[in-house]
Amino acid sequence: MPKRPYVIDEMISAKTIAARVEELSHQIHDEFSGTDKLVVVGLLRGSFVFIADLVRELDLPVEVDFIEASSYGNQTESSREVRILKDLRGEISGRDVLVVEDIVDTGHTLKHVVGLLNAKNPARLKTIALLDKPSRREVDMSADWIGFEIPDEFVVGYGIDFAQRNRNLAHIGKVRFTGE
Ligand code: PRP
Repeated sequence: MPKRPYVIDEMISAKTIAARVEELSHQIHDEFSGTDKLVVVGLLRGSFVFIADLVRELDLPVEVDFIEASSYGNQTESSREVRILKDLRGEISGRDVLVVEDIVDTGHTLKHVVGLLNAKNPARLKTIALLDKPSRREVDMSADWIGFEIPDEFVVGYGIDFAQRNRNLAHIGKVRFTGE
């Protein structure tokens, strides 16, 4: 448990997220229309809620796979080291691939993962992130589709944690520390 007391203020409602996920699913459908198989790769753990909602909106032949990469630890600031804790189970060579990220912050995680996956020679590789914090970017990387651009706030919910808590919130909230 984090030691400092905090409250969570709602930033993006569950209803707003659902509407945006539906919009994005139409754009992804248009991009990958006609594919024989789209491998949707979620970055664990933060993307698990987003990928679950997104794939259920996609009327395409979909395979779901996961990679686990870590860049945060239990701190509020990103470290620059990206570790792959779990690799893909399936093959993506010659396949259409959609990488699903919960948030792009410094960009190190997505850049690293996209580099690894591109080395496996997919037919087409696209990326989607629910949240984007462009003001925090340290590398030249952005997702092809973004749900919401947000300021540099400490956010939780809809899969995103603070010290492994709050991933189960249905909305995106902003952490506000309330003192000692
Ligand atoms: C977080 C988040 C993104 C990444 C973004 O993952 O889920 O994957 O950091 O940061 P970056 O753009 O600065 O690299 P985290 O390592 O906290 O793991 P988690 O998804 O399991 O919470």
